[in-house]
Amino acid sequence: MRIDLLTLFPEMFPPILGASIIKRAILKKVVEVRVHDLRDWSRDKHQKVDDRPYGGGPGMVMRPEPFFDAVADLKKQNSLEPRVILLSPQGERLTQGKAAELARRPWLILLCGHYEGVDERVRIGLAQEELSIGDYVLTCGELPAMVLVDSVARLLPGSLGDEQSPEEESFQGNLLEYPQYTRPEDYRGLRVPEILLSGDHEAVAEWRRLQALRRTIVKRPDLFYGPADSSA
Ligand SMILES: C[S@@+](CC[C@H](N)C(=O)[O-])C[C@H]1O[C@@H](n2cnc3c(N)ncnc32)[C@H](O)[C@@H]1O
Repeated sequence: MRIDLLTLFPEMFPPILGASIIKRAILKKVVEVRVHDLRDWSRDKHQKVDDRPYGGGPGMVMRPEPFFDAVADLKKQNSLEPRVILLSPQGERLTQGKAAELARRPWLILLCGHYEGVDERVRIGLAQEELSIGDYVLTCGELPAMVLVDSVARLLPGSLGDEQSPEEESFQGNLLEYPQYTRPEDYRGLRVPEILLSGDHEAVAEWRRLQALRRTIVKRPDLFYGPADSSA
Protein backbone atom coordinates (compact mmCIF):
# COMPACT_ATOMS: atom_id res chain seq x y z
CA MET A 1 0.00 0.00 0.00
CA ARG A 2 1.07 3.56 -0.64
CA ILE A 3 0.16 6.55 1.55
CA ASP A 4 0.93 10.16 0.58
CA LEU A 5 0.59 12.93 3.14
CA LEU A 6 0.13 16.57 2.19
CA THR A 7 1.19 18.75 5.10
CA LEU A 8 2.58 22.10 6.16
CA PHE A 9 4.69 20.33 8.79
CA PRO A 10 6.64 17.47 7.18
CA GLU A 11 9.03 17.53 10.13
CA MET A 12 6.32 16.13 12.41
CA PHE A 13 6.27 12.73 10.71
CA PRO A 14 9.77 11.12 10.83
CA PRO A 15 9.75 10.38 14.59
CA ILE A 16 6.52 8.41 14.24
CA LEU A 17 7.36 6.77 10.92
CA GLY A 18 10.79 5.82 12.26
CA ALA A 19 9.61 3.78 15.24
CA SER A 20 7.99 0.50 16.13
CA ILE A 21 5.57 -1.33 13.84
CA ILE A 22 5.30 1.44 11.24
CA LYS A 23 9.06 1.57 10.87
CA ARG A 24 9.15 -2.19 10.37
CA ALA A 25 6.26 -2.11 7.88
CA ILE A 26 8.07 0.57 5.86
CA LEU A 27 11.36 -1.35 5.93
CA LYS A 28 9.56 -4.54 4.85
CA LYS A 29 7.89 -2.52 2.05
CA VAL A 30 4.47 -3.49 3.34
CA VAL A 31 3.62 0.21 3.17
CA GLU A 32 5.27 3.12 1.43
CA VAL A 33 4.68 6.47 3.13
CA ARG A 34 5.57 9.71 1.34
CA VAL A 35 5.41 13.04 3.12
CA HIS A 36 5.05 16.17 0.97
CA ASP A 37 5.39 19.81 1.92
CA LEU A 38 2.23 21.47 0.65
CA ARG A 39 4.16 24.71 0.19
CA ASP A 40 5.87 23.09 -2.81
CA TRP A 41 2.54 23.63 -4.61
CA SER A 42 2.03 27.22 -3.48
CA ARG A 43 1.52 29.70 -6.30
CA ASP A 44 2.75 32.50 -4.08
CA LYS A 45 6.31 33.79 -4.26
CA HIS A 46 6.53 33.58 -0.45
CA GLN A 47 5.11 30.05 -0.55
CA LYS A 48 1.96 31.13 1.28
CA VAL A 49 -0.84 28.58 1.25
CA ASP A 50 -3.41 30.37 3.42
CA ASP A 51 -5.55 33.48 3.20
CA ARG A 52 -8.18 35.43 5.11
CA PRO A 53 -11.69 34.01 5.24
CA TYR A 54 -14.29 35.53 2.95
CA GLY A 55 -17.02 37.09 5.06
CA GLY A 56 -14.53 38.04 7.76
CA GLY A 57 -13.76 36.35 11.03
CA PRO A 58 -10.65 35.27 12.87
CA GLY A 59 -7.69 33.31 11.57
CA MET A 60 -6.62 32.06 8.20
CA VAL A 61 -8.00 29.42 5.86
CA MET A 62 -5.92 27.09 3.68
CA ARG A 63 -6.38 27.88 0.01
CA PRO A 64 -7.69 25.18 -2.32
CA GLU A 65 -5.16 25.38 -5.19
CA PRO A 66 -2.14 23.77 -3.47
CA PHE A 67 -4.25 20.76 -2.47
CA PHE A 68 -5.79 20.33 -5.94
CA ASP A 69 -2.43 20.83 -7.71
CA ALA A 70 -0.59 18.46 -5.40
CA VAL A 71 -3.15 15.67 -5.80
CA ALA A 72 -3.13 16.15 -9.59
CA ASP A 73 0.68 15.87 -9.64
CA LEU A 74 0.69 12.80 -7.43
CA LYS A 75 -1.89 11.12 -9.64
CA LYS A 76 0.42 11.56 -12.65
CA GLN A 77 3.03 9.43 -10.86
CA ASN A 78 0.83 6.38 -10.57
CA SER A 79 -1.82 4.54 -12.53
CA LEU A 80 -3.58 3.50 -9.31
CA GLU A 81 -6.70 5.35 -8.19
CA PRO A 82 -6.07 7.04 -4.82
CA ARG A 83 -8.59 7.47 -2.02
CA VAL A 84 -8.30 11.15 -1.08
CA ILE A 85 -9.10 11.82 2.59
CA LEU A 86 -9.43 15.14 4.37
CA LEU A 87 -8.70 15.06 8.11
CA SER A 88 -11.31 17.20 9.82
CA PRO A 89 -13.05 17.33 13.21
CA GLN A 90 -16.31 17.49 11.25
CA GLY A 91 -15.74 14.20 9.44
CA GLU A 92 -17.00 10.68 9.96
CA ARG A 93 -15.39 9.09 13.02
CA LEU A 94 -12.38 6.89 12.36
CA THR A 95 -13.14 3.42 13.71
CA GLN A 96 -11.41 0.07 13.55
CA GLY A 97 -13.87 -0.88 10.82
CA LYS A 98 -12.98 2.18 8.77
CA ALA A 99 -9.26 1.46 9.26
CA ALA A 100 -9.83 -2.10 8.01
CA GLU A 101 -11.74 -0.79 5.00
CA LEU A 102 -8.95 1.67 4.16
CA ALA A 103 -6.32 -1.05 4.60
CA ARG A 104 -7.87 -2.82 1.61
CA ARG A 105 -7.20 0.15 -0.68
CA PRO A 106 -3.95 0.36 -2.63
CA TRP A 107 -3.34 4.10 -2.21
CA LEU A 108 -4.40 6.80 0.22
CA ILE A 109 -3.72 10.52 -0.05
CA LEU A 110 -4.22 12.32 3.27
CA LEU A 111 -4.86 16.07 3.39
CA CYS A 112 -3.82 17.76 6.64
CA GLY A 113 -5.48 21.03 7.55
CA HIS A 114 -4.22 23.84 9.78
CA TYR A 115 -5.24 27.32 10.96
CA GLU A 116 -9.04 27.73 10.86
CA GLY A 117 -9.26 24.81 8.46
CA VAL A 118 -9.39 24.21 4.74
CA ASP A 119 -11.35 25.99 1.99
CA GLU A 120 -14.68 24.17 1.65
CA ARG A 121 -14.02 23.43 -2.03
CA VAL A 122 -11.32 20.95 -1.01
CA ARG A 123 -13.97 18.96 0.84
CA ILE A 124 -16.54 19.29 -1.93
CA GLY A 125 -14.37 18.86 -5.00
CA LEU A 126 -11.26 16.91 -4.01
CA ALA A 127 -11.67 14.79 -0.91
CA GLN A 128 -13.68 11.58 -1.24
CA GLU A 129 -13.91 11.21 2.49
CA GLU A 130 -13.68 13.47 5.52
CA LEU A 131 -12.45 11.68 8.64
CA SER A 132 -12.24 12.75 12.27
CA ILE A 133 -10.34 11.01 15.06
CA GLY A 134 -12.74 12.29 17.73
CA ASP A 135 -14.95 15.08 18.98
CA TYR A 136 -12.25 17.56 19.91
CA VAL A 137 -10.37 20.16 17.91
CA LEU A 138 -6.65 19.76 17.38
CA THR A 139 -4.31 22.41 16.04
CA CYS A 140 -3.64 20.60 12.81
CA GLY A 141 -4.33 17.46 10.78
CA GLU A 142 -0.88 15.92 11.18
CA LEU A 143 -1.62 14.04 14.42
CA PRO A 144 -4.94 12.69 13.08
CA ALA A 145 -3.14 11.67 9.87
CA MET A 146 -0.55 9.75 11.87
CA VAL A 147 -3.29 8.07 13.88
CA LEU A 148 -4.90 7.01 10.63
CA VAL A 149 -1.59 5.79 9.13
CA ASP A 150 -0.82 3.76 12.25
CA SER A 151 -4.29 2.22 12.51
CA VAL A 152 -4.23 1.24 8.82
CA ALA A 153 -0.60 0.16 8.48
CA ARG A 154 -0.71 -2.29 11.40
CA LEU A 155 -3.59 -4.13 9.69
CA LEU A 156 -1.66 -4.76 6.49
CA PRO A 157 -0.51 -8.35 6.06
CA GLY A 158 3.13 -8.56 7.14
CA SER A 159 3.10 -5.50 9.41
CA LEU A 160 2.69 -7.29 12.69
CA GLY A 161 5.09 -10.06 13.59
CA ASP A 162 3.88 -13.66 13.52
CA GLU A 163 3.44 -13.52 17.25
CA GLN A 164 0.95 -10.66 17.01
CA SER A 165 -2.39 -10.65 15.33
CA PRO A 166 -5.08 -8.01 14.89
CA GLU A 167 -7.71 -10.79 14.90
CA GLU A 168 -8.34 -10.87 18.65
CA GLU A 169 -7.88 -7.20 19.39
CA SER A 170 -10.46 -4.78 20.70
CA PHE A 171 -13.30 -3.85 18.32
CA GLN A 172 -13.14 -7.08 16.36
CA GLY A 173 -16.71 -8.32 16.30
CA ASN A 174 -17.79 -5.28 18.37
CA LEU A 175 -15.99 -6.59 21.45
CA LEU A 176 -13.17 -5.28 23.63
CA GLU A 177 -10.24 -7.59 24.17
CA TYR A 178 -10.08 -9.85 27.24
CA PRO A 179 -7.72 -8.90 30.15
CA GLN A 180 -4.04 -9.68 29.63
CA TYR A 181 -1.57 -10.84 32.27
CA THR A 182 2.13 -11.61 32.30
CA ARG A 183 4.68 -12.44 35.01
CA PRO A 184 4.76 -12.30 38.02
CA GLU A 185 1.94 -14.61 39.08
CA ASP A 186 1.37 -12.55 42.20
CA TYR A 187 1.95 -8.82 42.21
CA ARG A 188 1.15 -6.90 45.38
CA GLY A 189 -1.44 -9.51 46.29
CA LEU A 190 -3.13 -9.36 42.88
CA ARG A 191 -2.98 -12.87 41.46
CA VAL A 192 -3.18 -13.96 37.85
CA PRO A 193 -6.49 -15.85 37.40
CA GLU A 194 -5.83 -19.57 38.02
CA ILE A 195 -7.39 -20.56 34.71
CA LEU A 196 -4.59 -18.83 32.78
CA LEU A 197 -2.04 -20.98 34.62
CA SER A 198 -3.97 -24.21 34.06
CA GLY A 199 -2.62 -25.09 30.61
CA ASP A 200 -6.18 -25.96 29.55
CA HIS A 201 -6.39 -24.12 26.21
CA GLU A 202 -10.10 -24.67 25.74
CA ALA A 203 -10.91 -23.39 29.20
CA VAL A 204 -8.64 -20.38 28.65
CA ALA A 205 -10.37 -19.58 25.34
CA GLU A 206 -13.79 -19.80 26.98
CA TRP A 207 -12.70 -17.62 29.92
CA ARG A 208 -11.33 -15.02 27.53
CA ARG A 209 -14.52 -15.01 25.48
CA LEU A 210 -16.64 -14.45 28.58
CA GLN A 211 -14.29 -11.75 29.88
CA ALA A 212 -14.43 -9.96 26.52
CA LEU A 213 -18.24 -10.04 26.57
CA ARG A 214 -18.43 -8.94 30.20
CA ARG A 215 -16.04 -6.03 29.91
CA THR A 216 -17.59 -4.80 26.67
CA ILE A 217 -21.05 -4.74 28.28
CA VAL A 218 -19.69 -2.90 31.32
CA LYS A 219 -17.24 -0.53 29.65
CA ARG A 220 -18.77 0.00 26.23
CA PRO A 221 -22.45 -0.90 26.12
CA ASP A 222 -22.75 1.34 23.03
CA LEU A 223 -20.37 -1.00 21.22
CA PHE A 224 -22.03 -4.17 22.43
CA TYR A 225 -25.60 -3.16 21.71
CA GLY A 226 -24.81 -0.92 18.74
CA PRO A 227 -24.91 -1.84 15.05
CA ALA A 228 -22.36 -4.42 13.94
CA ASP A 229 -19.22 -2.90 12.45
CA SER A 230 -19.24 -5.19 9.45
CA SER A 231 -15.95 -4.01 7.96
CA ALA A 232 -13.87 -4.74 11.10
C1 LIG B 1 -7.96 24.04 14.27
S1 LIG B 1 -8.53 22.78 13.20
C2 LIG B 1 -9.86 23.60 12.35
C3 LIG B 1 -11.18 23.44 13.03
C4 LIG B 1 -12.32 24.14 12.30
N1 LIG B 1 -12.19 25.56 12.43
C5 LIG B 1 -13.65 23.69 12.87
O1 LIG B 1 -14.13 24.33 13.81
O2 LIG B 1 -14.22 22.68 12.44
C6 LIG B 1 -7.29 22.71 11.97
C7 LIG B 1 -7.13 21.36 11.29
O3 LIG B 1 -6.83 20.37 12.24
C8 LIG B 1 -7.31 19.12 11.80
N2 LIG B 1 -8.12 18.56 12.89
C9 LIG B 1 -8.42 19.15 14.06
N3 LIG B 1 -9.13 18.35 14.84
C10 LIG B 1 -9.31 17.20 14.18
C11 LIG B 1 -9.97 15.98 14.48
N4 LIG B 1 -10.61 15.78 15.62
N5 LIG B 1 -9.93 14.98 13.55
C12 LIG B 1 -9.31 15.16 12.37
N6 LIG B 1 -8.67 16.31 12.03
C13 LIG B 1 -8.67 17.31 12.92
C14 LIG B 1 -8.07 19.35 10.50
O4 LIG B 1 -7.24 19.01 9.42
C15 LIG B 1 -8.34 20.85 10.56
O5 LIG B 1 -8.43 21.42 9.27
